[in-house]
Amino acid sequence: MKILRSADAVRAWTRGVSGSIGFVPTMGALHEGHSALIERAVKECDTAIISIFVNPTQFNNSEDFESYPISLEADCEMASKAGASAAYVPESAEIYKDGQLFEIREGLISQEMEGRARPGHFEGVLTVVMKLLNIVKPTRAYFGEKDYQQFLLIRRMAAAFFLECEIIPCPTVRAADGLALSSRNQRLNRAGRELAPKLFRTLKNNESLEAAQGSLEDGGFLVEYIEEHWGRRFGAVRLDDVRLIDNVEA
Ligand code: PAJ
Repeated sequence: MKILRSADAVRAWTRGVSGSIGFVPTMGALHEGHSALIERAVKECDTAIISIFVNPTQFNNSEDFESYPISLEADCEMASKAGASAAYVPESAEIYKDGQLFEIREGLISQEMEGRARPGHFEGVLTVVMKLLNIVKPTRAYFGEKDYQQFLLIRRMAAAFFLECEIIPCPTVRAADGLALSSRNQRLNRAGRELAPKLFRTLKNNESLEAAQGSLEDGGFLVEYIEEHWGRRFGAVRLDDVRLIDNVEA
C-alpha cells in the first residue's frame, strides 16, 4: 500500500489508476468498523484509497484532540489487509494553508444533536471532507451509519455543491455485546466497558424517549440527548469522562 503525504502526490497517484476510485476518510485508530468500510470500497470500486488525518478543526475540545489515539503503522497494516491500495496522510499545514479562512457551514441539521453538543464540530468535518473529496476526486466515498448525522450532512453537502461523488452509508459494526466499535471505547475502564452496551440495548428497546433517558440515567450514564430523526433513534451519553454516541432504526 502506497503512503501519500501531499495533495500533489495524491493527484499523481489518481492519474495513474484506471476505473472507479473508492475513498474512505478516517482519523486513524482503525478498527473493524473502518475495515468494513474499506472492504466495501474495495468490493465496489476498481481501486480504494483511505485518508488518515486527525482533523484539529472538528474537535471543540483541545484535550480531546490531544488525547486522540495515533497508530499509523497498525492503521496502514489494517488498511492494506482490507485491500486499500493507498493511504493519504496529509499535513495539517497543507490542508489548512488558507489559515482556516474558508469554512463550509450548513444551516439546519448541523445545529442539532452532535452540532448542539459540540459547537463548530460539523463545520470542521464538512470543511475537511470537502477538501479531501476535492483532492482525491473519488467515484464513491464511504461513511459509517455510526455517525449518521455526519453521513447525512456530507451527502447533502455533496448534492449542494454538485460534487461528482456518490456518498454511501455503511451499517454500524458492533462488538458481540452490541457496543458500536469506536476508538473512544479504548478509554473506558472495565466497569464502563461492561455498562456501555446498555446504550445500544436501550435505543433498540423502543420505549418512550423519556423512559429510555431515565433507564440510562439509572444505569449510571450521563445523558446528553436521546432524540428521534429520519426514522432513527439517536443517543449521546457520557460514562466517566468518555463520550459515546449511537443510533438505531426506530
Ligand atoms: P473516524 O471517526 O475515524 O471515522 C471514519 C469513518 O468510519 C466514519 O465514516 C465513521 O462513521 C466510520 N465508523 C466509525 N466507527 C464505525 C463503526 N463502528 N461501524 C461503521 N462505521 C464506523 O468520522 C470521522 O473519522 C471524521 O469525522 C472524518 C469523516 C474522517 C472527517 O475528519
